[in-house]
Amino acid sequence: MADEQQLFKVTIDNITVEVEPGTTILMAARKIGGDVTPPAMCFYSKLQGSGGKCRTCLVEVSKGSEKDPRPMPKLVASCRTTVMDGMEVKNITSAKVPEARAGVVEFLLLNHPLDCPICDQAGECHLQDLGYEHGKEGTRYEFSRRTFEKEDIGPYIQLHMTRCILCYRCTYVAAQLTDNRVHGVLDRGDHAEISTYISKAISNDFSGNMIDVCPVGALTDKTFRFKNRVWFTKPVSAHRNCDKCCGKVTIWNRGDEVLRVTARKDEWGEVESYDGKPGWICNTCRFDKKKMSDWTIEGPANINRHSVISTNHYVGAQKPAEFLPELMGGRNPKMLMDIHDVSDVNDPKVDLSLLPGPATGATFTKTKEQ
Ligand code: SF4
Ligand code: FES
Repeated sequence: MADEQQLFKVTIDNITVEVEPGTTILMAARKIGGDVTPPAMCFYSKLQGSGGKCRTCLVEVSKGSEKDPRPMPKLVASCRTTVMDGMEVKNITSAKVPEARAGVVEFLLLNHPLDCPICDQAGECHLQDLGYEHGKEGTRYEFSRRTFEKEDIGPYIQLHMTRCILCYRCTYVAAQLTDNRVHGVLDRGDHAEISTYISKAISNDFSGNMIDVCPVGALTDKTFRFKNRVWFTKPVSAHRNCDKCCGKVTIWNRGDEVLRVTARKDEWGEVESYDGKPGWICNTCRFDKKKMSDWTIEGPANINRHSVISTNHYVGAQKPAEFLPELMGGRNPKMLMDIHDVSDVNDPKVDLSLLPGPATGATFTKTKEQ
């Protein structure tokens, strides 16, 4: 009879779960799910060696194990600390964790520009969410933030190093998914930056996955930059037969226009797995298949209802009663403009996804004159 592996019991925020030895506290918490799960900015379960860089996932270990019940003296990074049998962990029930996490957010934001209004990642940025949930209103930092020139790494990806939080996820993608990594972290301390070796372009078939793993807007898709805000697009699950990757994607539409193609994400913001393998997608699916006819549509993508992206995508929503006549003493308003009729940016002749760069006023005036 094969030996059954002994499972370890770990209690996180008073919820007990059994996991295999070697499981990290973070993965045990993900098994429980919900608010008990600490946030993670650098750990990515599908990338070997990731984690341990950002300290976002700090938790308090109030009992080390059944054999040695002493608490751990300091908060520990849950993505790098493995569970022991009988361990007790505090995340949302800890008095120390919120304070420490607020400090981590402040640190991550030291040099990060607060340019969410013009950043393509806004609405799906993990740092933005972290700032809202765990940050403080102000910063104590008094010096100028470090800035970098934007850099094109390859034909499809733009690096905006000013926004990078040095989580290293993109370097793991490049090392583990592509055959010839040409970028990494150069220099150290506050000079550290992600760059390609002498600005060498990245032209590997799977390089686009770096965009999906980047938790902030440091790596963006050049075919989508400034084309739309994510919450105005309609995410749809679709697939195609691809000889390089799984071909299972989310396409982000505006009407019938495919503005962006990404890998499908799970509830932790990581790529979905199929048959135990991560569903990374190739650059052909991501950047070259921008027509609806390229894809077999499966249906609306499942987006977390707390995400700003799910705005306007409610199921069974009730339309509020018309209140204008009531406000105006029974009279109907004389003129109401429908923004869709009067705005140039809704011109159906302009296919935003096929433009080489961001749309400008000239793009729309030109088609108007035709
Ligand atoms: S570019 Fe993005 S993925 Fe790469 S280290 Fe910086 S924040 Fe992380
Ligand atoms: S997620 Fe654990 S240290 Fe970054």
